[in-house]
Formats: sequence, C-alpha cells, structure tokens
Amino acid sequence: MEHHRLNKTLLEEEKTPQEAVANPDYEHPNVTLIAAASENDALGKDNDLLWHIREDLQRFKDLTCGHAIIMGRKTFESLPKALPNRTNIVITRNNDYQATGIVCCSSLEEALDLAKDDPQPFIIGGGQIYQQAMPFAHTLELTRVHDHFEADTFFPTIDPTIWQEVWRETHPKSDNQPLAYTFITYKKIATS
Ligand SMILES: NC(=O)c1ccc[n+]([C@@H]2O[C@H](COP(=O)([O-])OP(=O)(O)OC[C@H]3O[C@@H](n4cnc5c(N)ncnc54)[C@H](OP(=O)(O)O)[C@@H]3O)[C@@H](O)[C@H]2O)c1
Repeated sequence: MEHHRLNKTLLEEEKTPQEAVANPDYEHPNVTLIAAASENDALGKDNDLLWHIREDLQRFKDLTCGHAIIMGRKTFESLPKALPNRTNIVITRNNDYQATGIVCCSSLEEALDLAKDDPQPFIIGGGQIYQQAMPFAHTLELTRVHDHFEADTFFPTIDPTIWQEVWRETHPKSDNQPLAYTFITYKKIATS
C-alpha cells in the first residue's frame, strides 16, 4: 500500500505541471451545481437570463458567498463584473484571457483543482459547463421555473436513476412575482 502511494508520488513528480493539471487524480468530494431552469430546461438566450426572480438571486448569493464559483467564459461575460465575496474561476480555451477579479483556467478539471481547498465549490453555468460538470457534481441546487421559454441554452436532463430529490420549497405566483418556481435540492445516488 505504502509502496503504491510512493510510486504514485514519484509518477506525479515526473509529470509536467500541464500534464498534472490535465489529468488530476484528485476528485473534489463536494461539488454543487446551481442553476435556474424552466419546465423545458431553458437557461438563457442571447447570453442573458430569461427572468428576474429576486428571491432566486438572493438564494444564489446566500449559498455561494464565501465559496469558489466556477463558470464558462460566456457566463462570466454575461455578468456586469466578477461577483464579490467569491473566488471567480472562469473556464476558457483562450490562454490570453484576462479580466479583473477572476482566475482563468482551461478546463473544468483545472477549475476544480484550483478550488480544492474550498469545502463546497459551486458550478454556476452556463449550458456548456453544466453539461460537462454533471459527472463531477454531488449536489444540484435547482430553481425550477414553472413556465416554458424560448431559449438558446438549456440545462441537461436530470436522470432520476442518478439524482434523487431530497428537499423542495414551492413558491406560487404572487402580486410581486408572476412566475411560480420551486427550489429543489438533488443528491447524486449513482454514477452514470
Ligand atoms: N439560468 C441559469 O441558472 C444560468 C446560469 C448561468 C448562465 N446562464 C445562461 O447561460 C448562457 C451561457 O451559457 P453557454 O452554454 O452559452 O456558455 P458557458 O457555458 O457559460 O461558456 C462557454 C465557454 O466556456 C468555455 N469552455 C466551455 N467548455 C470548455 C472546455 N472544455 N475547455 C475550455 N473552455 C471551455 C469556452 O470559452 P471560450 O470561447 O472563451 O474558449 C466556451 O465558449 C447565457 O445565456 C447565460 O445567461 C443561465
């Protein structure tokens, strides 16, 4: 056992930093994916959101503050600026990409490696990154918006053999909010 561990360490040291990042043995044990999607899994259109639900934005802030937030370059560019009180990690294939208040990386694996000291990093979108992150996630914090929207970006289908709903809180339409929505927490119960 000890021998194997030593060999593994020696092998790690022979890798270039790029190889070590591209193939990390390390898997983060507590990755949460947070999203808001309509009944037809719509997430966004023209690099913008489809609705404004104040309570959903507040819940997003409450859950993610103090943590690493991992996002695709397009989602980052849909924000006015890096989100405060969080480590903003942006995934892009452009090695020269830079912006104030962010850390850049070139893959989801590298992003999770950058977040390895965070006990609960969050994947915050968008569609491309959610699709790639489903196998890495342990928890889904989904806001299901109970309507159908025309969109160009969609959330992946949630497979009920892999994800089990463990909590939900429903919010009916109100005078202030014409959309009904439900906060739902899923836990991964199997791998694909
Ligand atoms: N409803 C929600 O909860 C929610 C949340 C977040 C975002 N959104 C919406 O989602 C939309 C944006 O999503 P999107 O799917 O178009 O884009 P995205 O996932 O935010 O970003 C895509 C970009 O990420 C980079 N990327 C993706 N895979 C990569 C990989 N394997 N390696 C390296 N870089 C990679 C590429 O950047 P480069 O092109 O720079 O290489 C790619 O263009 C917007 O409409 C936004 O408003 C909705």
